[in-house]
Amino acid sequence: MTLIVHLSDTHFGTEVPAVVDALRNIVAARQPDLVIVSGDITQRARREEFQAAQQFFRSLPAPALLVIPGNHDIPLFDLLARGFFPYRNYCAALGRQSGTWFGDDVAVFGFNSTSPLRHTKGKLSPEHFRSMLKEAPAEPPQACIRIACVHQPLHTAWMQDAHERLINADSTAEQFSMHGFDIVLSGHVHVPYIATTRDSFPGLTRHFILSGAGTATSHRTRPGAPNSFNFIETRKDGEDMEVDITLCRFDEASGEFSANPAYRFRRARDGWKEVA
Ligand SMILES: [Fe+2]
Ligand SMILES: [Fe+2]
Repeated sequence: MTLIVHLSDTHFGTEVPAVVDALRNIVAARQPDLVIVSGDITQRARREEFQAAQQFFRSLPAPALLVIPGNHDIPLFDLLARGFFPYRNYCAALGRQSGTWFGDDVAVFGFNSTSPLRHTKGKLSPEHFRSMLKEAPAEPPQACIRIACVHQPLHTAWMQDAHERLINADSTAEQFSMHGFDIVLSGHVHVPYIATTRDSFPGLTRHFILSGAGTATSHRTRPGAPNSFNFIETRKDGEDMEVDITLCRFDEASGEFSANPAYRFRRARDGWKEVA
């Protein structure tokens, strides 16, 4: 069993201190194996914003951290920095822009879908898949749950956010399916979305789980979508695999995050299915 905390869009520089404290408390109570942060760590890619983020991540009681950049982690107004050293402040605080983490039953691949040449749009190329999968352990894909983390989503909860999806979302979903990914994590739109690909990409031969997280700590929330993050819990029993994803929302009245009932998914022959 592996317990992962999936945070996104912390946007340090616009963080709400009470939400940051509440998040630290709930993560401490669960003692996860890994914290994943799917980009937009900062609001404007400033050094002091990355330092605040680094301090917060270090304060979380988890033995491992996997972080990828979002479009906000590249300078927007400083064109010199954007053109010549777009990831300088990110790397100084957080290290690599992509990375992997391998647990007992989980393999996590963090993809960098941003580019200084694009504004907010994200894209994955076949080269992204080739270079990430070079780091994969030499086990067959069914031996573990294979998780990808990207910033921009493949699908969004709200129709009006459809233009925020990854460029070439259909063919990118096929790539994830073909390479045996079980879960694709994302952020960017500040609205959580948890479902399999059965409705959004019905033509896939093998379905996977889409798990998008909201903004964990920023005041840049959207109407009806308070600060939130997700717990991801994997279970493996022989060839049977299950995943529970629990959306936790910040409640203004109590000043705490509270957990919704978990979504439960099970792996079948044609991929993942939601179960009651
Ligand atoms: Fe964001
Ligand atoms: Fe973003």
